Amino acid sequence: MRNFFLTALILFSITAPAQKFKDLALTPPMGWNSWNKFECDGINEKVIKEVADALVNNGMKKAGYEFIVIDDCWQIGRDSLGNILADPIKFPSGIKSLADYIHKKGLKFGIYTCAGIKTCAGRPGSRGYEYQDARQYAKWGVDYLKEDWCNTSTQDATESYTLMNKAIEQAGRPMILSLCEWGLSKPWLWAKDIAHCWRTTGDIRNNWDIADAKEGKVWAGGVVINLDMQKGLEKYAGPGHWNDPDMLEVGNGALTVEEERAHFSLWCMLAAPLMAGNDIRNMTRQTLEIITNREAIEVDQDRLGMQGYKILDEDNFEIFMKPLANGDTAICLFNRGPEKKQFEINWAHYKISKGKSIYDIWKHTITGSTNENYKIMLNRHDVIMLRLGKK
Ligand code: GLA
Repeated sequence: MRNFFLTALILFSITAPAQKFKDLALTPPMGWNSWNKFECDGINEKVIKEVADALVNNGMKKAGYEFIVIDDCWQIGRDSLGNILADPIKFPSGIKSLADYIHKKGLKFGIYTCAGIKTCAGRPGSRGYEYQDARQYAKWGVDYLKEDWCNTSTQDATESYTLMNKAIEQAGRPMILSLCEWGLSKPWLWAKDIAHCWRTTGDIRNNWDIADAKEGKVWAGGVVINLDMQKGLEKYAGPGHWNDPDMLEVGNGALTVEEERAHFSLWCMLAAPLMAGNDIRNMTRQTLEIITNREAIEVDQDRLGMQGYKILDEDNFEIFMKPLANGDTAICLFNRGPEKKQFEINWAHYKISKGKSIYDIWKHTITGSTNENYKIMLNRHDVIMLRLGKK
């Protein structure tokens, strides 16, 4: 009898569907990732440590940023037993010691791999080494794994990512699994039970509105290109499972201040993971103020976990709405057009009742109530982000 139960238990554990670690990413993950600014050649342990120091010292940690994620190019090969090796020139102290350094600062540590045989930058991928790699990450103290989709040939996305999820589960260390499959096979339809977030687009570009095509189809681009690709996906996001329109380009030099503010506000409205993608060791006060705006971050991190959605799209004027846990509503008014313009909002059009105060999240003050129409002047590509509520 005992043997029967034992066999049944073993059979169950082999055939049972993989479960991701629950209670992780109950609000969208926040942190910093090396790729947008440093790409392949710019990373090394000195840079990563300095970034961790900066994140603690400049107030970002206090504002909620917690993961330091090394993207592609930390890995250089495998040893004779197949263990993944870090580049000894760029990371002479090894990944474990870097993870320890980051953990000592009260932060969490993330790393990158790829579901294919090679990463996008041609480094060794995890294909065929999933269990071994996950065990290694667990030993190093990895808390967040980004898994890319280059060089996957005929691999099936659901199978490949489910495999890594199982490998992480077996390795036994809770890790956020962040899928980077660019939205090709609509991961929002199948990844909820195996991952904590999934990219919905290809790579964001450091510009406002230039589309980027892959095999003749737009797969990503500047800020508003990625923004538009989120339409209709709101129903798939919630606590523990988020749509990811890609990392932030705030502070990378190509956007105007209005565009940076719009990019950040809109990502907060989308309940997007907030991964800073700039050199946070050397940024302007203006960039720091944007990415650490507590009230905007509160909207992103709201525990109801609803992704904001568009309620108006007319003549380059867009309104986004995001219901919040305490009954308040976040609203983002967005002038997409090329000129400064005046707009007037009649709240009743959007079924917003009278008697609510209007708090301006960038001005940090109450600017009216929903009893009257709201008249605003908006610069080109600028936003006004509001919290309607009882305050
Ligand atoms: C892909 C991903 C990017 C980045 C690079 C690294 O393009 O989508 O986010 O990780 O690979 O090579």
